[in-house]
Amino acid sequence: MATGNRYLGLIDKYRDVLPVSDSTRLISIGEGNTPLIKLENIPALTGKNVDIYVKYEGLNPTGSFKDRGMTMAVTKAVEEGSKAIICASTGNTSASAAAYAARAGIKAFVLIPEGKIALGKLAQAMMHGAEIIQIKGNFDHGMQLVKEVAEHAPVTIVNSINPYRIQGQKTAAYEIVEALGKVPDYHCLPVGNAGNITAHWLGYTEMGKTSGEHPIMAGYQAAGAAPFLKGEMIDDPETVATAIRIGRPQSWDQAWAAQKESGGWFDLLSDEEILAAQKLLSEQEGIFCEPASAASVGGAIRDIKNGKIPEGSTIVCTLTGHGLKDPDTAISQCAINPKAIDASLDAVKAAILDKL
Ligand code: F0G
Repeated sequence: MATGNRYLGLIDKYRDVLPVSDSTRLISIGEGNTPLIKLENIPALTGKNVDIYVKYEGLNPTGSFKDRGMTMAVTKAVEEGSKAIICASTGNTSASAAAYAARAGIKAFVLIPEGKIALGKLAQAMMHGAEIIQIKGNFDHGMQLVKEVAEHAPVTIVNSINPYRIQGQKTAAYEIVEALGKVPDYHCLPVGNAGNITAHWLGYTEMGKTSGEHPIMAGYQAAGAAPFLKGEMIDDPETVATAIRIGRPQSWDQAWAAQKESGGWFDLLSDEEILAAQKLLSEQEGIFCEPASAASVGGAIRDIKNGKIPEGSTIVCTLTGHGLKDPDTAISQCAINPKAIDASLDAVKAAILDKL
């Protein structure tokens, strides 16, 4: 039996490029090290010769990419003596903050928009014992409140305005280059608060310091929550992809820098396009991601078909969260057999033959 190779989380693996010392107590649940999966069926549907990989961040401990930044943010909060963390969230950050606070033995306060977070995320925040504060407002209102309250109470903000979040999340770029053995030509990802595109760009530019190599970054937003397409903040974001239902991204300038410096672009997808991409990945590749995540693949497919992403390209799409996060939206897209049949061999056989 192999011994001595236990994976101890991404801070342990990437400690050379992260702000920790040998004596830092690492708050880790084994995050990172997620698979980079080559799509086998979808590329052919584009009619073009391309390689598409998905970085399946839904396989992190709490089911989203947030764990990469959270392990770092909570590790530093604990190192600095903080007894409580706070965040505003569309769901995944709250689930991750709750889990890492539980692991560290500190308190988590999470502000979430009433009625607008997916069921799985709420279940996680509740199970991990976070103090859940539902607000009659959206993520942007919550973010503003968190910033104000942190000035008056001894709590550490763990949203991606916390620079340690970005540090932890940049490791996704390191893993991708390591797994591919090269820098991808294009990196597509969904954009909400814009921390993740900022973090990936940081990772790629750190790695490419001497070679100058980097991917072209493409950020995709939901049509009803697309401030980067509008060129200004918006007040009433709306989309079925509740994870990216954000009108006032905190990493606004950094995301524009990533787009400009990489030679990339922002674009938007309708809710229908987002859900179609989610279904396509599920049905064609056996990969279940949440709606917001599918914006990356939906956007990539469109830009491959229209030639913006040229033939011969190697493309990485980040799948930010697991499909099980949002069972309601998934089920509502699928036809459920209307009526039950008899529990008999004949009835089941007939049902099968009917479908073959
Ligand atoms: N995809 C998922 C599944 C998300 O949960 C988020 C953000 C994003 C994409 C966008 O990433 O904000 O770095 O541009 N979710 C945050 C939250 C806002 O509160 O969970 P971003």
